[in-house]
Amino acid sequence: MATNITWHEGLTHAERTTILRQPGLTIWLTGLSASGKSTIATALEQHLLHNNFAAYRLDGDNIRFGLNKDLGFSPADRTENIRRIAEVAKLFADAACVAVTSFISPYAADRALARSLHDAAALPFVEVHVDVPIEVAEARDPKGLYKKARDGIIKDFTGVSPDAPYERPEQPEVYIDTSKESVEDAVAKIVGYLTEKGVLK
Ligand code: PPS
Repeated sequence: MATNITWHEGLTHAERTTILRQPGLTIWLTGLSASGKSTIATALEQHLLHNNFAAYRLDGDNIRFGLNKDLGFSPADRTENIRRIAEVAKLFADAACVAVTSFISPYAADRALARSLHDAAALPFVEVHVDVPIEVAEARDPKGLYKKARDGIIKDFTGVSPDAPYERPEQPEVYIDTSKESVEDAVAKIVGYLTEKGVLK
């Protein structure tokens, strides 16, 4: 932790959202690999942009090409991955943008940290559990990663390796089962929740 640093106050979040007439919030998608997080996040981002909401998607695979290229999949690295993304999403939300994150974010404590960072800044945080039975995710296997994990080529694959559990959210704001609900259903469910709560107007 650096010393001799001072926090500078600028415009408040309320002032920014009023001037820009845009809400700022984070929609946090969590779920197994191949659950459909990225597909739903992409469709949601498109829906929001077409409805004139500034929205930006932060995606697990993509962020690991840049900001988090130094991180792997050990528990400590996953925790640091999620901590950084929580901070980045918070910046987007504070800037009056809808941050749509799609990360496995397997540990409940890391998701709780992401939520608490937003709570402390009075920024809305909406957790969406993109659920799917692991057998369905494994049958989809769009990147061939489940096969590699079963063949022992990937040692720490979420949901397959005992060392890489997925801790299911206990009380997500929105729950989606992608083995039963379409991408369109999922987007409508998330947008419906946000509208009902008055977060999107
Ligand atoms: S985490 O756990 O939240 O830090 O993971 P995340 O940043 O979302 O990255 C998940 C994507 O990385 C690929 N991948 C793996 N996932 C899980 N376990 C292991 N060991 C692993 N190795 C590579 C995989 O493509 C994940 O993308 P999704 O979209 O979830 O399938």
